[in-house]
Amino acid sequence: MKVLDYDYLVIGSGLAGLSVARHLSAHGNVLVVTKKNRSESNTNYAQGGIACVTLEEDTFDMHIADTLDAGAGLCDEDVVRTIVSDGPARMKELQDLGMPFTAKDGSNELDLGREGGHSMRRILHAGDITGEHIQATLLNDVDSNENIKILEYTHAIDLVTRNLNGMTFCVGAYLLDTKSGEIFAVRASYTILATGGAGKVYLYTSNPDVATAGGISIAWRAGAEIRNMEFIQFHPTCLYHPAAKSFLISEAVRGEGAELVDADGIPFMANYDRRGSLAPRDIVARAIDNEMKTRGLECVYLDIRHKGKEFLMKRFPNIYAKCKEFGVDMAIDLIPVVPAAHYCCGGVKTTVDGCTNVQGLMAVGEVASTGLHGANRLASNSLLEAIVCGYRAAQWIIAHPRKVDVSDITIPPWVFGDAVPSDEQVVVAHNWDEVRTCMWDYVGIVRTDKRLERALTRIMNIRREIRQYYFDYFVTADTLELRNIADAAMLIILSAMSRKESRGLHTSLDYPDTMLVSHDTVLDRSCEPKF
Ligand code: SIN
Repeated sequence: MKVLDYDYLVIGSGLAGLSVARHLSAHGNVLVVTKKNRSESNTNYAQGGIACVTLEEDTFDMHIADTLDAGAGLCDEDVVRTIVSDGPARMKELQDLGMPFTAKDGSNELDLGREGGHSMRRILHAGDITGEHIQATLLNDVDSNENIKILEYTHAIDLVTRNLNGMTFCVGAYLLDTKSGEIFAVRASYTILATGGAGKVYLYTSNPDVATAGGISIAWRAGAEIRNMEFIQFHPTCLYHPAAKSFLISEAVRGEGAELVDADGIPFMANYDRRGSLAPRDIVARAIDNEMKTRGLECVYLDIRHKGKEFLMKRFPNIYAKCKEFGVDMAIDLIPVVPAAHYCCGGVKTTVDGCTNVQGLMAVGEVASTGLHGANRLASNSLLEAIVCGYRAAQWIIAHPRKVDVSDITIPPWVFGDAVPSDEQVVVAHNWDEVRTCMWDYVGIVRTDKRLERALTRIMNIRREIRQYYFDYFVTADTLELRNIADAAMLIILSAMSRKESRGLHTSLDYPDTMLVSHDTVLDRSCEPKF
């Protein structure tokens, strides 16, 4: 088996991964591995933008207060303060790299968007394809950096760990080249997970296909602590159309005045929250879920017709064009929308600098749980967290060189089994669908003990099958991702079962009250049920 040596291994090529790679590259060589092509990441699809205090009349304290309010009592206030306060320096860095944030007509002043839960306009955006511009800006920089190599179409299979002096150390990872089928290892002093989120654990998601919870699952299997996985954020407004594959209608559309209405055009959000359609996401998603379930609706609608075609085409060119492709003219028609899984507020438990409980293993971006989001993420705080923590993780690593020389550590060759007979591939596809449908039906916006128990039994059965049938055979991208979504599904269910209250994004009909004092859910390898 081929073993490559690098100073730093970064798994994931979105904003968090590329930020950490850029800042580490002056101190050693960096390998970035990514499952598809280098621009395929959750970052690339972000529409809304980056929340950051830039106006004189805005303050860090106001942004912090909005974040804590959305987080429903579970944010770590020190972490929130650090990330919010580091924001302006990181935005300047992005601008210096050429990031084309939208300015107000004929001026240098930033055009700031507004989203749910924010008391001010404070979202820096680049039209309605902010993420695509960020991805291109960073790749442009990284591609000309001789100390950074990007390997595309490369999946992380598992981390390589060693127990040294009573502690678990990560010394790299086993990887699969999905084009050639070759399995190889990378040995590195630091391995940084920047794999994004877990949207594909659910049947309906706004996330791209790469969001299969890889980082969370491989970290858990390596002994990392995983925090608050029950807090899955459902975005309230994905386009409802059979061919749209959950295309997102950005919250910025509500920020510009869109109202949530029923098919007759009657607004309903005032019945749920004084902030109406711009209430935090957990409230809006639950309200829509309630409207759909109690009134038997297939979807609800966004109404922004009053803003007119000229404004809509200018402010939301991508969304306008996409809706038009599906036969919806935002200036004339109501936009049919439904909620879909969007963001994983929990993840690998880290400090604000990205450190996990496994030595040599860091995590940044959506895969990490720093304490910023608590029980519900404030809109557009995630790109902020990714860039701030990417920078901070690199600074922490530079200040803490590894004492152990990992190049002396032997990595055992990967043990190959026989090939999967081709007729088994249908079982992989079936199990994929079953995990995602089960999670959508039983572990969605509103939960009950009974549904969670049912989900756990099914997911444990699937996990047993995965272990029994597939991993003695050969590894493919599909089987790796199936194993990862099944492990993440189990972690979400176990976390949800242990929370005996309703808080933020976790709503239980059996425990409707919010407890006065609450705590984080933390799971490690020992949580795996023995049935
Ligand atoms: C959106 O544009 O609505 C998504 C923004 C976010 O999830 O932060």
